[in-house]
Amino acid sequence: MSTTAKKQVMLTGIKPTGRPHIGNFLGAIEPGLRRSQKFDRTHFFIADYHALNSLETKNDVSKLTLSVAASWLAAGLDPDKINFYRQSDIPEIFELVTILNNYTPKGWMNKAHAYKAKVDINTKAGKEIDEDINMGLYSYPLLMASDILLFDAGVVPVGKDQMQHIEITRDIAARFNNSFGEIFTLPEYLLEDKVEELPGVDGRKMSKSYDNIIPLFAGSDEWWESIRKIVTDSSPAGGQIKAEDSVVFKIYEAIASEADSNSLRSDLESGTIGWKEAKEKLLEAIEARFSDMSKNYQELITNPDDIKQVLEQGASKVRPLAAAKLTEVKAAIGINS
Ligand code: ADP
Ligand code: TRP
Repeated sequence: MSTTAKKQVMLTGIKPTGRPHIGNFLGAIEPGLRRSQKFDRTHFFIADYHALNSLETKNDVSKLTLSVAASWLAAGLDPDKINFYRQSDIPEIFELVTILNNYTPKGWMNKAHAYKAKVDINTKAGKEIDEDINMGLYSYPLLMASDILLFDAGVVPVGKDQMQHIEITRDIAARFNNSFGEIFTLPEYLLEDKVEELPGVDGRKMSKSYDNIIPLFAGSDEWWESIRKIVTDSSPAGGQIKAEDSVVFKIYEAIASEADSNSLRSDLESGTIGWKEAKEKLLEAIEARFSDMSKNYQELITNPDDIKQVLEQGASKVRPLAAAKLTEVKAAIGINS
């Protein structure tokens, strides 16, 4: 990290996807909020235009956006401390894309993994290489570069699949700076440090694509419905059981205190309790940890205008920064200079 007096800016984009689950909270929301305290300025924004390239028909992006925004707010995001906005409310991002288009070699987009993966599929199927590939997918890394470079973000927390996009962003920034002077900050990615993958009810990684989630925001009945489905060993508890091997215990351990986890471990391994009781304990732990948050979420989501207002205020706070950067960029390239 730079030791200069420059402000340390952390920024990350959140795609508006479906209902959050406990894995999203433990792996992304909670660590993101905790980490933000170390930075001078943090931007968390909903990357709604990034969601469009996979949706050909009219869809509910704005509904999903509100639901993701409500999730982060319910989980404790303080919009007075973190800049929280919707990508589509910052037109400067898209003007910067138009500018960066001219200084980004086309070949760099050819190498981006999401595009390459589609090309591979087409090639194997004997189709034209670019069949069914839209420009949004192709230039996805450029939009991401604009999100980041416009705000001088130095640190960008991402999952492994996004690392390449940050590298491309750095390359774009370095190439631009090389021609026009030190305009952009070169961002570094920050990989989630070893967030254990929380298993879902079927034992695979908890993921909405596997339909094996425990929802983050729910009530006891619905949580129990999910917990009930957790596959357990049919052997009676006691003797042969190693708590660590069971999904029930793994999820419990990720949520409950160390003391409670130790106690469940010994109860399971000594055979004092069976799986049904272990599941009930898991329900209690989930209720203790997430009931208040769920109530917050319900309250927020029933007042969409309030959420919209938070996002709009977030946008109006950062737009002056965006405008200033854009002015600097335009002056550097000779537009309006
Ligand atoms: P999903 O797999 O449900 O589609 P996403 O890919 O949208 O989830 O992930 C959003 C964020 O939540 C990412 O930062 C990811 O690392 C985190 N995450 C998702 N599933 C898990 C999990 N099972 N355990 C820990 N973190 C997770
Ligand atoms: N592409 C990211 C994802 O799929 C979301 C995103 C959009 C993002 N713009 C960003 C992440 C800028 C970090 C920085 O998860």
